Amino acid sequence: MEKIKIAVIFGGMSTEHDVSIVSGSSVIKNLNKEKYEITPIYIGKNGDWFLYTKDIEKIDILKIGEEPIELKEIKNPIEVLRNVEVAFPVLHGLYGEDGTVQGLLELLKVPYVGCKVLGSALCMDKVYTKIVLDKAGINQAKYVYIKKQNDDIRHSDDRYVYVDEHFNEEELELKDICKKVIEKCGLPAFVKPSNSGSSVGINKAKDISELENAIKYAGKFDSKILVEEFINARELECAVIGNNNVDASCVGEILPAEDFYSFDAKYNNSQSRVEIPANISTDISEEIRQTACKAFKAVDGKGLARVDFFLEKGTNKIFLNEINTMPGFTTISMYPQLWGECGKPYSDLLDVLVQLGMHN
Ligand SMILES: Nc1ncnc2c1ncn2[C@@H]1O[C@H](COP(=O)(O)OP(=O)(O)O)[C@@H](O)[C@H]1O
Ligand SMILES: [Mg+2]
Repeated sequence: MEKIKIAVIFGGMSTEHDVSIVSGSSVIKNLNKEKYEITPIYIGKNGDWFLYTKDIEKIDILKIGEEPIELKEIKNPIEVLRNVEVAFPVLHGLYGEDGTVQGLLELLKVPYVGCKVLGSALCMDKVYTKIVLDKAGINQAKYVYIKKQNDDIRHSDDRYVYVDEHFNEEELELKDICKKVIEKCGLPAFVKPSNSGSSVGINKAKDISELENAIKYAGKFDSKILVEEFINARELECAVIGNNNVDASCVGEILPAEDFYSFDAKYNNSQSRVEIPANISTDISEEIRQTACKAFKAVDGKGLARVDFFLEKGTNKIFLNEINTMPGFTTISMYPQLWGECGKPYSDLLDVLVQLGMHN
C-alpha cells in the first residue's frame, strides 16, 4: 500500500503555541508510520516555518514549554505544502484555528483535516458564534457585545462602543457601558476577548470597577469584547466527528481546581481533573450530544470539534459555551479521550480524521 503523504503543522503564532507543540507531537507520535509518510512542520511564534527534521520514529511527545530543536528553515512553505496529499493543522487559536491556515490550504488545493475557512473563523470569534447559535435556537448565556475603538494608535484614549442585537452602535463612556452590561447580564459577569483561547484575557468581574478593568484588559487582546452573565454550572464537553453525517461522543466533565477554568487551572494546576464519562443522566447526555451535532452543523463545521457546555446547578439547564474547531490533541486531552471511551483509540481516530479531511 502506498503511504499517504501528510503534513502535520504545529506551533504557530497564537497564545496557544506551547499547547500546539504538545498536541502536534502527540499526533506525529500516534500516526501509523506504516500508513503515512509524515512531513512535520513547525511554525515559530514569530511566524517562521521550519521542517522538524528529527527522525520520525524517534519523535516523542514534547512537554508543555518544550520546543523542538532539530529544525531546518523552510524558505518556501507553499512548495512543501504542494508536495503532500493532506495537511493536518494541529494549531490552536489565532493564525491556525481561525481560518487563516485553512485559507492558505484552500488556495493551494491541499485537502486538510478539520473545519473549512468559514467554520474555523466563526468558531474562533465568540461574539459571532453566539449570533449564529442564537439563530439556531441554541440556549446560551445572555451577553453584551462591546467594540473597542482607537483610531490613533499613538494614543491610549480608547473609546468604547455598545453594539446592540441589530448591530446598532452607540459610543458611550465605559462606566455607562458597564451599567448597561449589569442591567442585561447582572454580576458577577464574565468578560472575554472575542477572539482568544486557553482563557487568555478572560476575567470574572464581581463589581462595576472590576467590570471596567476586565473590559479594558480584554481589549488588549481583541477589539471585540464579549461580556456574559455568570452561569453557576458544571462544565461538560462533547466531541463531534464527521463531515455530513455527524457523530457525537459520550460526554466528559471538567473539574477545574480554581474558581473557573483559567489558564492556570488548565495548564499549571495538577488538581484540575476530568471525568469521563461525566456522572449525568442519560437524558442530559443525549440533549448535549444532539445539541453538539446541531451546533456543529449550524456553524458549518467539518471534520471535528469539541463542543463545550454549562449544566446549570439547580435548574439542570444546558447552555452552550463554545465550539473549539481544533481542540487540544495531547494524549490526555478531552477530545481524544472521549473517543477513546467510545472505543476509538487515538491512532484509529487520526485515521478517521485524515480520511474525512481527504474526502470533503
Ligand atoms: N458565562 C460563564 N459563566 C461561568 N463560567 C464561565 C462563563 N464563561 C466562561 N466561564 C469560565 O471560563 C472558562 C474559559 O472560558 P471560555 O469561554 O471557555 O474561553 P476559552 O476559549 O479561552 O476556553 C470556562 O471554561 C469557564 O470555567
Ligand atoms: Mg473554553
